[in-house]
Amino acid sequence: MRNPSSPPLLRASDIHVAFRRGGLLHRRQHPVLQGLSMTLEEGCCLGIVGESGSGKSTLGRVLVGLLRPDRGEVAVDGKNLYGTGRGASFHPCSVVFQDYVTSVNPRFSVEEIIAEPLRKGRDGARDRKERVLALLEKVGLSSDLLRRRPHQLSGGQLQRICIARAVASRPRFILLDEATSSLDVSVQVQVMDLLAELRRDEGLSLLFITHDLTAVTYLCDAVLFMNDGRIVERVDDLSRLHAVGDIHSRRLLDAATPL
Ligand SMILES: Nc1ncnc2c1ncn2[C@@H]1O[C@H](COP(=O)(O)OP(=O)(O)OP(=O)(O)O)[C@@H](O)[C@H]1O
Ligand SMILES: [Mg+2]
Repeated sequence: MRNPSSPPLLRASDIHVAFRRGGLLHRRQHPVLQGLSMTLEEGCCLGIVGESGSGKSTLGRVLVGLLRPDRGEVAVDGKNLYGTGRGASFHPCSVVFQDYVTSVNPRFSVEEIIAEPLRKGRDGARDRKERVLALLEKVGLSSDLLRRRPHQLSGGQLQRICIARAVASRPRFILLDEATSSLDVSVQVQVMDLLAELRRDEGLSLLFITHDLTAVTYLCDAVLFMNDGRIVERVDDLSRLHAVGDIHSRRLLDAATPL
């Protein structure tokens, strides 16, 4: 049981990010995240939704240690993610992106893809192989696929392999950035069922970025609505989703269709 006085798994406070607009002569900064704060609790699946360009992926990159914010702090288990160096001072999480094809090395076999994060560990080759086989089984794929290359797999199979690779390093949480968006609806549901199962069995915490509120209601416990680099609403009880007041959030809600 979590100690109520312990810090949340992830806390972002007053995050600001701006990017330069235009060419080198244009020094104007375009604010993309504007004083954003949020938390992710242990074991929770938190959806982050918002229209295209609202800053979801930028926030994701900040939260996983890929982009140091211009201002603000990110803490994992109460520990500052960005120390004094240029990048993150530790790597507590894995990421699964929408574009599963370019996120794997096309020359690697399935075995090599899943084993990639395991190579840094102290396990010998035999233990690594066993872990790869266990992960493959966990994501519902047969060991017959071990020698296949990415082009010999379906989109759904390849995304499951990316998920197995994300789980392999035993992360504190996994960020899924539009990870199911390019799959067809029935495969989307299968992958979301797999994520729900992994959450239950491995106690994983998930950050689920999407523009699809239907997927959020299927998988998440809580949802953040973003607009123009800010969180405009947080809903912790999804049965209260219909009560969101923000106009942009309502627009997303009205566009959602049941799976
Ligand atoms: N590296 C970058 N350099 C300059 N501008 C950027 C960079 N990354 C993102 N942006 C800009 O920041 C804004 C937010 O982008 P972001 O990718 O975070 O949006 P998003 O909510 O993930 O959108 P989508 O739903 O289309 O994926 C956009 O205007 C985008 O053009
Ligand atoms: Mg995005």
